[in-house]
Amino acid sequence: MDSKRKARIIGTGTYLPSKILKNSDLEKVVETSDEWIVTRTGMRERRIASETEYSSTMGLIASKDAIKNAGIKAEDIELIVVATATPDYIFPSTATVIQSGLEGCKAPAFDIQAACAGFLYGLSIVRSYIESGMYKHVLLVASEKLSSIVNYKDRATCVLFGDGAAACVVSAEGKGLQINDICLGADGGPAETLGVIAGGCRHPSSEETVKNDMHYLTMNGQEVFKNAVRCMESMTNNCLDKLAIKPDDISWFVPHQANIRIIEALSKRLGIPDERIFKTIHKYGNTSASSVPIALHELLQKHTIDTGELLLFTAFGAGLTYASSVLEQINH
Ligand code: UT7
Repeated sequence: MDSKRKARIIGTGTYLPSKILKNSDLEKVVETSDEWIVTRTGMRERRIASETEYSSTMGLIASKDAIKNAGIKAEDIELIVVATATPDYIFPSTATVIQSGLEGCKAPAFDIQAACAGFLYGLSIVRSYIESGMYKHVLLVASEKLSSIVNYKDRATCVLFGDGAAACVVSAEGKGLQINDICLGADGGPAETLGVIAGGCRHPSSEETVKNDMHYLTMNGQEVFKNAVRCMESMTNNCLDKLAIKPDDISWFVPHQANIRIIEALSKRLGIPDERIFKTIHKYGNTSASSVPIALHELLQKHTIDTGELLLFTAFGAGLTYASSVLEQINH
């Protein structure tokens, strides 16, 4: 690797479907209440893709936005990586479908699967391509149509998830957010903890799998909650220690938006005050891989980040996978 070449995010973009699903709408389909959802999760509403919106179409709009904001052209993109747990198809990859919609772009394209930690896993991959000197501009997309795998009869999960996409251009040069470090982890465990059991080669889709609701997402919420706080805390501390920095040095904390109580428990343990945490959970719910980059894009729209300021990302998801990253605003 060229040790002087540092990857940085030079442009971001998002797409959120226009349809809003409120807590009061969910009260009509399952036995729940606005009060339970708000106090147990912090969520008030989430976006739901239409029948003709897919991870590829949402990801494509977010990609065009990111490319425009980066000040480059689609033909400058040399690689496309898409993080998604809800691809359009098992194959071909959603990345290739997105590529076909980017005029003039003939870049190689592939998907990665690390569930809610997918954006940060993807960031570590594209960073390596940039810092090895192989590519100058890479497009990283996170896009999820979680409503396609949510069981709207299961109150324990259907209130949690929403749809949406985000993209960023990661480059070898230019003003933006330099990736100072990324730390990745995984505690491989049973798919039943959090997963979609059918549709793969172990349980191919059949009448039986559909009858048993195995094509829907299932989750052991309490197990996931406990591990989420523990793993994101340890991975974040690893990352801060490697860079010899403290939580006080962080200007903005952008955590995965899965539950407000997870965010609060985590930030309390890390010692990051509420005014430095960026949240979108109340309006978008959990958008899996898209949650950190959607929040990042909105943070950059709302606040100016000065040169030298540090951002901290962390995410946790099925697998169990988790990751943390520190980025620094640079001016060149
Ligand atoms: O992005 C990937 C990572 N995902 C996560 O990090 C999610 C992690 N887990 C969580 O966020 C929480 O565990 C949940 C929000 C899923 C659940 O909250 P909880 O405080 O752990 O609730 P619980 O599962 O312990 O359930 C408590 C009660 C139960 O009733 P009983 O048995 O005490 O009578 C549930 O049946 O709440 C009930 N309940 C609900 N009640 C009203 C569960 N879901 C609902 C609901 N509305 N939607």
